[in-house]
Amino acid sequence: MNWTLLVAVIGCCSSCFAASLLPHEQGKNAPSSPADPILQQTRQRRDAYNIIEDCMTVTSKDGHFYYKASPKDEVEPGTTCGLYLITDPERIIEIELIHVDVSCENGGLISVVDGWELNGEFFPSPEDHHLPLEQRIKSECGSHQTSSRYLSSQNAALIQYRVPRLGQGFSLRVNYVKNPQPCNILVEGTSYVYTLSNHGRRLNCSVTTLFPASISLVSLDVGFTEQRRLSRLSSPRHHLITHRSPPGEIVHNCEEKEMSDFLQIGGSSGLDTANMLVSDSVCGAAREPKTTEETIACGITTVRLVSSGRHRNWAQVSIRPAEDEDLSLANVMCPA
Ligand SMILES: *[C@@H]1O[C@H](CO)[C@@H](O)[C@H](O)[C@H]1NC(C)=O
Repeated sequence: MNWTLLVAVIGCCSSCFAASLLPHEQGKNAPSSPADPILQQTRQRRDAYNIIEDCMTVTSKDGHFYYKASPKDEVEPGTTCGLYLITDPERIIEIELIHVDVSCENGGLISVVDGWELNGEFFPSPEDHHLPLEQRIKSECGSHQTSSRYLSSQNAALIQYRVPRLGQGFSLRVNYVKNPQPCNILVEGTSYVYTLSNHGRRLNCSVTTLFPASISLVSLDVGFTEQRRLSRLSSPRHHLITHRSPPGEIVHNCEEKEMSDFLQIGGSSGLDTANMLVSDSVCGAAREPKTTEETIACGITTVRLVSSGRHRNWAQVSIRPAEDEDLSLANVMCPA
């Protein structure tokens, strides 16, 4: 089936997750050469530090990260590599470049990205991020001691680097900071209940997984309220909807019904959720609504809260990786 290819691609990624997120892996990147002065220095500060060895690293560790292009690298010098950082939904990522030694020749550079990039697509989608894409990517090259500090807008950030010359590299520090109002959330491979809220603002927020997922609504308060519903009785266009949605119930296909605020459930092949296939869009208010679980057979699954700013929207969804039995009954299947 078409999506199996995507699952395979993402599968590589989730195995990186599994490896890098396991607590017993913490000590794996122990220093190979304690005589290195930079390593000794960082050691004295009693921060955890990590040597970047793989071209694609996915991690939730904090502390110092250190990379030096070495003949032992499994990729050609000058290949674009990435340190993919992911943390709890309610945290953002602080990145401090400490030392950059990456010659600008032959495309050498280090970039800090506000979000993740995979195959040219970005999370969060440029559509759902308050900053234009150019402002989310900050690049440097040359050789200097710096103290550039970057703060991500969500629980995912990326350091992309291309170091064409052996022996060159960089060091940086990563710290995870509380975020009282999370909007976009990237999910690593665990089952969990996620809360989406617009905090009363005109803004779109999403929870995105890197695996095909089964999603169920836990509770919802999105869009029209009791008062609004009454006021809409005078509008013939909404007559049908008001009749169909007694208080405390969920309305389906709200997007088609031209509601301003709704929760989309769907999936996409790539990280950019702008072109996602939507399985359903729901609105209304209910606790533990009796809706069936939806399975999205796509490499990327997204629950997206669209808010006009007129309502204080709130949704809790339960997300778990889809099993084979779920996938055979999927609500949405992504083309390759
Ligand atoms: C939110 O998404 C909707 C539909 O996708 C779009 O029309 C609207 O402009 C978006 N709002 C913001 C603030 O980006």
